[in-house]
Amino acid sequence: MSDSPKAGTTPKKYLVTGGAGYVGSVVAQHLLEAGHTVTVLDDLSTGFRAGVPAGAAFIEGRIQDAARHLDPSYDGVLHFAAFSQVGESVVNPEKYWVNNVGGTTALLAAMREHGVRTLVFSSTAATYGEPVSSPITETDPTAPTSPYGASKLAVDHMISGEATAHGLAAVSLRYFNVAGAYGSCGERHDPESHLIPLVLHVALGKRESINVYGDDYPTPDGTCVRDYIHVADLAEAHLLALTAAAPGEHLICNLGNGNGFSVREVIETVRKVTGHPVPETAAPRRGGDPAVLVASAATATERLGWQPSRADLAGIIADAWQFARREDTTTP
Ligand SMILES: NC(=O)c1ccc[n+]([C@@H]2O[C@H](COP(=O)([O-])OP(=O)(O)OC[C@H]3O[C@@H](n4cnc5c(N)ncnc54)[C@H](O)[C@@H]3O)[C@@H](O)[C@H]2O)c1
Repeated sequence: MSDSPKAGTTPKKYLVTGGAGYVGSVVAQHLLEAGHTVTVLDDLSTGFRAGVPAGAAFIEGRIQDAARHLDPSYDGVLHFAAFSQVGESVVNPEKYWVNNVGGTTALLAAMREHGVRTLVFSSTAATYGEPVSSPITETDPTAPTSPYGASKLAVDHMISGEATAHGLAAVSLRYFNVAGAYGSCGERHDPESHLIPLVLHVALGKRESINVYGDDYPTPDGTCVRDYIHVADLAEAHLLALTAAAPGEHLICNLGNGNGFSVREVIETVRKVTGHPVPETAAPRRGGDPAVLVASAATATERLGWQPSRADLAGIIADAWQFARREDTTTP
């Protein structure tokens, strides 16, 4: 991994909010490898100082105070900082409105104040809620089923207003299920709520079995189907998104592989990759879990020129497994 500029790339300076977290750290690493200058702004509320890639400047601070940390020398902001636990958002919705919406209001004001006019935002498939058809396109209805999804949709609306009123060039990327790892950057959520790292915890002996929530969905094996996208493919889309929108435009793109894998297929693939038997425990359906969530990424292909190149589930899981094993030996 080199941090000298790639041929044809003009080095720029970016603020990465939430760059001590899972996705933000991988994108920060990709920006550095493309020769850009990166400052990470993160309050470490769910992120880790060790997650910030070497070569990035680090400010331990909140997006609510972004005006203090931004200045006109920045070419753009990549905005990952948010709370993102769906279940927690149901029991503590105000925490999500205050941080995700309130924090982004402050960030947008700071960008306006300092004339920083390019934004790439982490939106989510959770903005759609229960899909009306599959694969999901960006023009499908948005009806989030959790305060988390609602807070992200509210931010998408705020960004549209900011683009129209104040000339922001903005892209919202609606991620489906992000997975895998890249170099020393990987998934360290606490508590963990994502399926692949949870199944890997079983393989590591950190949990006894994996809960399968519902096996009577209208899917081929009765378990929920999701679209898993490798975090490095996702990172590449962010770099392309930095130049995709014109001033005054807010472009929204789904990011997924367009392939669905069931919970059982994920567990079976973890068994093959790790050699561990991974016991399952049958559990009732969880409210608000749609049967199938699969992205149409046609807009990302058309507008960003993006194509995923790591869509193989076993490869995604193998990268996550390598990271999880390394973490297991390095975390005290
Ligand atoms: N991981 C996924 O599968 C997924 C899917 C869809 C969308 N997203 C979105 O992508 C983004 C990153 O997700 P992640 O999985 O890397 O989560 P993460 O929790 O690992 O990272 C979020 C980071 O933001 C920081 N943060 C939170 N509030 C902050 C604030 N007010 N000021 C400064 N820093 C703050 C946290 O400390 C953390 O480092 C989130 O916005 C999330 O909603 C993630």
